[in-house]
Amino acid sequence: MNHPLERAQQAFSKTFNRDADRLFHAPGRVNLIGEHTDYNNGFVLPTAIDRGTYMAVGLRDDSQINVTALDINGETSCWDANATIEHDQKHSWANYLRGVFIQFVESSHPNIKGMDVVVAGNIPQGAGLSSSASFSVVFATAISEINNLFYTPAKIALLCQAAENQFVGCNCGIMDQLISAAGQINHALLIDCQNLAIEPISVPDSLAVMIIDSKVTRGLVDSEYNDRRKQCELAAKQLNISSLREASLSVLQANRDSVDPIAFKRAHHVITENERTLAMTEALKNNDVTSLSRLMAESHVSMRDDFEITVPLIDYLVELVSSVIGRNGGVRMTGGGFGGCIVCLLPENLIAPVTQAIHNNYPREHGLTAEIHICKASNGAGEITPTV
Ligand code: GLA
Repeated sequence: MNHPLERAQQAFSKTFNRDADRLFHAPGRVNLIGEHTDYNNGFVLPTAIDRGTYMAVGLRDDSQINVTALDINGETSCWDANATIEHDQKHSWANYLRGVFIQFVESSHPNIKGMDVVVAGNIPQGAGLSSSASFSVVFATAISEINNLFYTPAKIALLCQAAENQFVGCNCGIMDQLISAAGQINHALLIDCQNLAIEPISVPDSLAVMIIDSKVTRGLVDSEYNDRRKQCELAAKQLNISSLREASLSVLQANRDSVDPIAFKRAHHVITENERTLAMTEALKNNDVTSLSRLMAESHVSMRDDFEITVPLIDYLVELVSSVIGRNGGVRMTGGGFGGCIVCLLPENLIAPVTQAIHNNYPREHGLTAEIHICKASNGAGEITPTV
């Protein structure tokens, strides 16, 4: 199958009888560690991946916006930039873009130019690799560049997060949008979600990033996600602090009786996950694979037992991979939870045995075929210069 950029360009030319004026891209992401810590003002360590969303854009003289999503049955959503922008009841995917558009209009840019847009991508949808964040970020990047606003990656990310929180209705944190906007080739980013400070952390050449999509469809993601967020906020309130970032394990334990038991478990995950994320950063800097292996394993157990966001098939896959790689690499569930993907950092020579183990065991045990992606840490969103 053609690269999504080519598909978007070809479909654009076919529909509008001319070439697109501008081309844009935003990557998906995989989080190495630091799960459900972002909206608690904590630390995350994601990397942008070499799978993404691509947009071919044609400028218009009027205020009309027409967007065609090739990967969603070629559906089209249209609106007028000068009219009130409503939810698109028929095309839920379009609400990510409509929400982004409203944010631009509200942040005092009423005269956004009209555009014809064709979009295509190669991030598996609904697998927890942030296909929707990259969809919002590529659109925001296109609007920012075409209208000469030149927003920074942090501003793009905050705008897209606000759109998702306010218009789409998921109270997500900042991680997915920020890594999609600010990713750096060959690096993971340690993000301090309290102040959005970013430290690029080199991913050692000796380790490959392997993503295994369990193909377990993520059910109830938004409602479970919003519940987890509320439980964390309850724990912070009961500890008399503004966010769990300010809590330590000893303070949590000393206040066991005054914190709701479920909220206590959620807080336990968040506090220990913040510590693990900082420790993992050191492990990567020192190429200390033994520590990395332990930290990723502990993170998985904490998501399984304290945060309760894994499912049995995901636990099975993590155990299976772990039995092959031992202490020579790390493996854990990645993303919001309830299905989706696991991520492994492992030496190249273990890719084949892990792949074999999955093919031999996973379909037999569970009737599903996992999809394996070997990814490269990649740059964040931007304009693509056409090659002639
Ligand atoms: C989803 C959200 C992120 C983050 C992760 C869990 O991907 O969009 O903000 O909370 O879940 O780490």
